[in-house]
Amino acid sequence: MYQAPRGTSDILPEEQAYWDYIRQKAEQICALYGYHRIDTPTFEDSRLFVRSIGEETDIVEKEMYSFNDKGGDSLTLRPEGTAPVCRAYIEHGMHTLSQPVKLYYFASIFRYERPQAGRYREHHQFGVEAIGDNDPALDAEVIHMASQLCTKLGLKRLALSLNSIGCNNCRPKYLESLKAYYSQHKESLCPDCKRRLAVNPLRLLDCKKPSCTPLTERAPQSIEYLCSDCAEHFEQLTKFLKLLNIAFSLTHRLVRGLDYYTRTVFEISPEGETGAQVAICGGGRYDNLIEQLGGKPTPAVGFATGIERLVLNLKRQKVPIPLLSTPTVFIAYLGKEAKEEAIKLASHLRGRGISVISTFSERSLKAQLKQANTSRARYAVIIGEDEVKNKCVVLRNMAEGKQEIIPLDKVASILH
Ligand code: HAM
Repeated sequence: MYQAPRGTSDILPEEQAYWDYIRQKAEQICALYGYHRIDTPTFEDSRLFVRSIGEETDIVEKEMYSFNDKGGDSLTLRPEGTAPVCRAYIEHGMHTLSQPVKLYYFASIFRYERPQAGRYREHHQFGVEAIGDNDPALDAEVIHMASQLCTKLGLKRLALSLNSIGCNNCRPKYLESLKAYYSQHKESLCPDCKRRLAVNPLRLLDCKKPSCTPLTERAPQSIEYLCSDCAEHFEQLTKFLKLLNIAFSLTHRLVRGLDYYTRTVFEISPEGETGAQVAICGGGRYDNLIEQLGGKPTPAVGFATGIERLVLNLKRQKVPIPLLSTPTVFIAYLGKEAKEEAIKLASHLRGRGISVISTFSERSLKAQLKQANTSRARYAVIIGEDEVKNKCVVLRNMAEGKQEIIPLDKVASILH
């Protein structure tokens, strides 16, 4: 028996109500904040991700689905959505548009991770990127958008973690102090962190290994090392968040698992739970990325949310979800001639915009009405031999259980 590959799942029809609900709310929010949809390819040149996410990150070191295609090019299934959007921004000369360019996407994301609840090898993200402005008011707007999405979905008891990790000016000094601190505790670090200590000490702060987490608590804090511009940016941001009534907690160990971030980083997680494994949303500013990828210096900020994690939390919090739409009519028939009438009537009704389902192989009337019930159709139309002869149908209101005989040519206007 074949099974879906480990860490992937089928999204069955009964699950789709959650996905539709999330997509609808996300699109409403994008319209409110002036974002436009972008779709990028499922795979990209591997170098795009290595360059942007960073060679010394878990994603690039261990989690990318990379392969050589038949032409010998190294391609990678998208492990995140920001770098492809930046690539598209540069490739299509979007710097000539009015800035910031505000883009959103729904995309499947591939990471070779150890699967567990809320963590998959293929997951789906809704993400937004606002490219071309460094105003902290834009950071606040993006965070507001993430928080509004959660609120509009009906999620409660969520917490926003916030931090600033500085820029190219102030970060080197901070990294030096991190290096000095962790070097004193080198013997307790996990092998990955020991290795990264020299090349990418920031990554030590988001190591998930139990041996490394206690050390992180007492590690130097990036906020203490910000240059005056970054400190001012962060102060403005927190002022705007307060203006918008967005509660946050300053989380010193929040650095995010991707190397492109500068200044603002944030995550939204269920209250009392922290860490990348439970985060519903994550994002931040990435002012150097477009330039790093060959574009002009262009500041940007964005976030992404894992749709599976939203579904998980909607279920945990028992948020009521609107049901998927149901058919208006179920057509039941008995006999060969009635079947022909049913086929014609179904086509006629659909042509008038009325949704119709019906059975195909011969079944008893009882079985067909049972099927009408489970389909949650509002009406059943029943056509038997007598109805064919008299050019009429039985129209049954499923909720009320009442039925009447009506002329065949009146069905569409009555149901419309
Ligand atoms: P990320 O934090 O790696 O950020 O992923 C964003 C969200 O995707 C997470 O908060 C989580 O909800 C979900 N997620 C991540 N990995 C998995 C997984 N293995 N299984 C299920 N859900 C997962 C980014 O990808 C950045 N590109 C976000 C961003 C946009 N930053 C700026 N703009």
